[in-house]
Parts: sequence; structure tokens; C-alpha cells
Amino acid sequence: MVLRPYAPTDLSLIRQGSADPYIPTFTSIPAIYSDAEGTAFIERQHERASGGHGFSFVIAEHGHAGVGLGSIGLWLREIESGRASIGYWLSSEARGRRLAGWALRAVVAYAFTGLSIPRLHLFVEPWNVASARTAEFAGFSREAFLRGWERIDDEQRDVDCYVLLHQEWSAGE
Ligand SMILES: CC(C)(COP(=O)(O)OP(=O)(O)OC[C@H]1O[C@@H](n2cnc3c(N)ncnc32)[C@H](O)[C@@H]1OP(=O)(O)O)[C@@H](O)C(=O)NCCC(=O)NCCS
Repeated sequence: MVLRPYAPTDLSLIRQGSADPYIPTFTSIPAIYSDAEGTAFIERQHERASGGHGFSFVIAEHGHAGVGLGSIGLWLREIESGRASIGYWLSSEARGRRLAGWALRAVVAYAFTGLSIPRLHLFVEPWNVASARTAEFAGFSREAFLRGWERIDDEQRDVDCYVLLHQEWSAGE
């Protein structure tokens, strides 16, 4: 598994994300794909890094780094309070091999050892067992049930908050 920045050649990955019924509801992936929307999405990911708002990585397989399989973001909106959030998705064909769990472990290691962020959290809807298992695989534990926390598809949805503190993380996990 490798993580890399978005490239202009990632339009097909964005098209796959757009085709998923869930991914556009909680990301800025366009719900209706066009090359113009896809290119604008890629430019936004680069602007987030240059503006200090976060890092958006493409997930790919070692040896096939050019073929994007999914995405994972480390978002720094609350960094002044010592915390950052993470979100991830895979194209439907890439699921079922714990790829997101390994990507999440890599982002956690970068956030803790590279950026010294004290607290990481992510939000998972209670039905989303694959995402909850991904969080647990990377060492996160469920901290709270937050009612009406996230606006998804114009609805305030309940989510579970999964947390990992730098002080409780062990690099070998
Ligand atoms: C969440 C997501 C990234 C996980 O992808 P993945 O790395 O391929 O995860 P896997 O399919 O290997 O599943 C991880 C674990 O969940 C389990 N799982 C997956 N789907 C499941 C389901 N419907 N019911 C119960 N368990 C399930 C797997 O058996 C696996 O268990 P393990 O830890 O015991 O091996 C992927 O499902 C996805 O992109 N979903 C849509 C976007 C999304 O929901 N993102 C997260 C938002 S919070």
C-alpha cells in the first residue's frame, strides 16, 4: 500500500467515487461526475495542503502507484486545539482487503510522529461496520455516540466518534 498526492491522472478514481451512493454524501467528491468537476476536486486537494488545511492522499498498491484505489484525508481544521480528523473511502472494487485499515495506520503514524498531533478522531455512522472495523484495526476506540452530529444528505445523522491519542498509540500497532 502507498499513499501519494492526487495527480491529474486520478480522474477515473474520482469518477468511481462519484458512482458510489455514499461517498459524495460525506466528501466533496461530485455527486454527478464530469471531467471539469473532477479536475476542480483535484485542485482543491492540492490547495488544502498548500493552505495548511489538511492532506488528501490517494491510496494505491505498491508497484501500481499510478492506479488510485481510494482516498484518505487528514484534516487540520481544529489543529489549534491539538486535534485532527480523518476520513477515508475506497472504490467498490478495492474493498475487502483491509486496504483502508493499512492506509489509516500510515496516516496515524505520519500524524503522530511527523506532525506531533496529540489527538486524532474520526466519525462513523453506526451501520458502517466496515468503517468501524477499519478504525479499530488502526488502534482507535469508540469514545462517544454523537446525536445529530454530521450533516449527510441534508440530514443531521448520529455518529460514533472513534479516538486515538498520541500518548496511547504504539508505533507497532
Ligand atoms: C470503509 C471502507 C473504506 C473499508 O474498506 P476496506 O479496507 O476494504 O475494509 P474491508 O472490506 O476489508 O472490511 C474491514 C473489516 O470490516 C468487516 N466488514 C466489512 N463489511 C462488513 C459488513 N457489511 N458487515 C460486517 N462486517 C463487515 C470485514 O470483514 C473486515 O473485518 P476484519 O477487520 O475482521 O477483517 C470501505 O468499505 C468504503 O470505502 N466504504 C464506503 C465509504 C465509507 O464508508 N467510508 C468511511 C466513512 S466513516
